[in-house]
Amino acid sequence: MSHTPDTPPRVAIPDLHRMVAEGRKIVMLTAYDAATARIADAAGVDMILVGDSIGNVCLGFENTLPVTMAMMNHHLEAVVRSRPQAFLLADMPYLSYHVSEEETLRNAGGFLQRGAQGVKLEGGRKRLPMIRALVEAEIPVMGHLGLTPQSVNIMGGYKVQGREGADAVRILEDALRLQDAGCFSVLLEGVPADLAARITEELTVPTIGIGAGPRCSGQVLVFHDLLGLIPGRPPKFVRSYLDGYGLMTEAISSWIKDIQDGAFPGPGESYMLPDAARAVLGQWRTPPRSSLQAGDIQAS
Ligand code: KIV
Repeated sequence: MSHTPDTPPRVAIPDLHRMVAEGRKIVMLTAYDAATARIADAAGVDMILVGDSIGNVCLGFENTLPVTMAMMNHHLEAVVRSRPQAFLLADMPYLSYHVSEEETLRNAGGFLQRGAQGVKLEGGRKRLPMIRALVEAEIPVMGHLGLTPQSVNIMGGYKVQGREGADAVRILEDALRLQDAGCFSVLLEGVPADLAARITEELTVPTIGIGAGPRCSGQVLVFHDLLGLIPGRPPKFVRSYLDGYGLMTEAISSWIKDIQDGAFPGPGESYMLPDAARAVLGQWRTPPRSSLQAGDIQAS
């Protein structure tokens, strides 16, 4: 290993495991560009997820299925440029890990080459060959079980998963299989709190919950949900800590009013001429129109 210049330490996988051993919860938040990543990092989250939820929350799609590798790479690169200290995880979009091991490796490896420290992908036992191939190639993988948004068409909507005994057992078994395949963590979305608690007890790797109750090793929320940036009632599992949508629209309305009232921009928001230049400008008189030839105007 060679010497590298001093850079602030980034959260790494052993740090995440240490947090859990010390009884501290892991906190993960999504971010989609340099601005949102900077805010999340300054607040002190442990992990930033460039989630494929970008499809719904930023790009205006109805679900995450249209999100492509090109879109994810574009936004991951913006997040990387903010140089976060948090562990940086990139979400594998639909069809980026389904076709072949080779394609999966190239897509996930490309995320790492752009600055991600790990990838997340959805699904249980069906995904084991891809997960093993990624882990074999030194790519840290977070699994994602329960309500997996890329399966929206199979699930028939976004519904809590694992409410039936057999489904709960299937999810628990999948979590153990993902751990055995080498996942460094498993995200549990939209599952009953007691199922998530049992899975967390059974696993040695951390679980990160969203709509999965309080007894996971950590929690994740979508940036726009946490800050109330989306109008309307959020889902039950969301707690919005800010009415971002209301506050932002109110701020923009105030700016519109100030412009109309002549109150913006004020002297403090304007550049003024130095005295000497103001005097020169003050002495200049508009010449008679006939003396302003078209050629003079173009030449000046
Ligand atoms: O894409 C996403 O935002 C997610 C959530 C579970 C946080 O996967």
